[in-house]
Amino acid sequence: MTIAAIYADFAAHEAHGVSPAYERLASAVTRDRELLALLALLPPAKRQPNLLFGVVRLLGGPVEDPTAFHDYTVANWPVIEAEMRTRATQTNEAGRCAVLLPVLTALPQPLALLEVGASAGLCLYPDRYAYRYGDHLIGSGEPVLACTATNMAPPTGLPQVVWRAGLDLNPLDVTDPADLAWLDALIWPEHTHRRARLRAAAAVVAADPPLLVRGDLVDDLPALAAQSPPDATLVVFHSSVLYHVPTPRRVTFAEVVRGLPGNWIANEAPDVLPYDTLPMPPGEALHNVLALDGTPLAWTRSHGQAINWFA
Ligand SMILES: C[S@@+](CC[C@H](N)C(=O)[O-])C[C@H]1O[C@@H](n2cnc3c(N)ncnc32)[C@H](O)[C@@H]1O
Repeated sequence: MTIAAIYADFAAHEAHGVSPAYERLASAVTRDRELLALLALLPPAKRQPNLLFGVVRLLGGPVEDPTAFHDYTVANWPVIEAEMRTRATQTNEAGRCAVLLPVLTALPQPLALLEVGASAGLCLYPDRYAYRYGDHLIGSGEPVLACTATNMAPPTGLPQVVWRAGLDLNPLDVTDPADLAWLDALIWPEHTHRRARLRAAAAVVAADPPLLVRGDLVDDLPALAAQSPPDATLVVFHSSVLYHVPTPRRVTFAEVVRGLPGNWIANEAPDVLPYDTLPMPPGEALHNVLALDGTPLAWTRSHGQAINWFA
């Protein structure tokens, strides 16, 4: 794919209907020879729209108006390029706990949670957040994670978590203002509710930080899993992570995780974690498949806004 095609695809399939500002910017980049030439200086994995737009937002640059964005990006390219080379897209969305909850609560309690690709670990606290499935409320406090649940009874309670650990190539620390600023910059401009949710979830995590280990989800998983308490159900889980991982490593990861005791919850797009058969997705916005121990169970929306259990 050319860089222009990557930005056109992002505008049409990711930003369209979700972020008018990013749709405008990405469309403008497709026709901007100067910016395309600058992006070509970066390694392919570092040319993504989310990374460019997030870095410009982090630096306080304009992301509403494509002309202002162009001028700012060209004028500040050395610092933008340096940030894009060292940073990665590590969006951490606590809202995803709302689609994990139905599976987590159905497992034998208590749970020892191990998230691979944990970013700052916000998804390691499904027992501390509140949830709203339609009229059905679970838990109290903030954030309240709203989710549309279809073809299923909503969960009736919260899981009991006795151990939580995260593994990430680059763990982020919510108590570090610089890391929190990057997580904030990764949230798309119009998504003020997600920004509020990040702050609320970060406060929960900061009050009782998890064990976050720097490492690879294949090489370092067994050693971390071995630290989990034997009298709890080990649950290895991941959400929107495997698209970062090369295909042969995804296969190896699945083999490693299947060799561990306990359970495995995946919430990933089916093109990165395929299944033999899947029902048709009920709508374009339901991109991910929730699976337990390799069995696909439901379509989910990318930020945990909806779960549609297979009929
Ligand atoms: C998009 S974030 C998702 C964070 C979190 N799972 C969530 O749902 O909010 C993906 C994370 O996976 C991490 N990651 C990518 N490849 C990895 C690998 N091979 N081993 C461990 N973590 C990895 C990245 O550093 C990043 O923090």
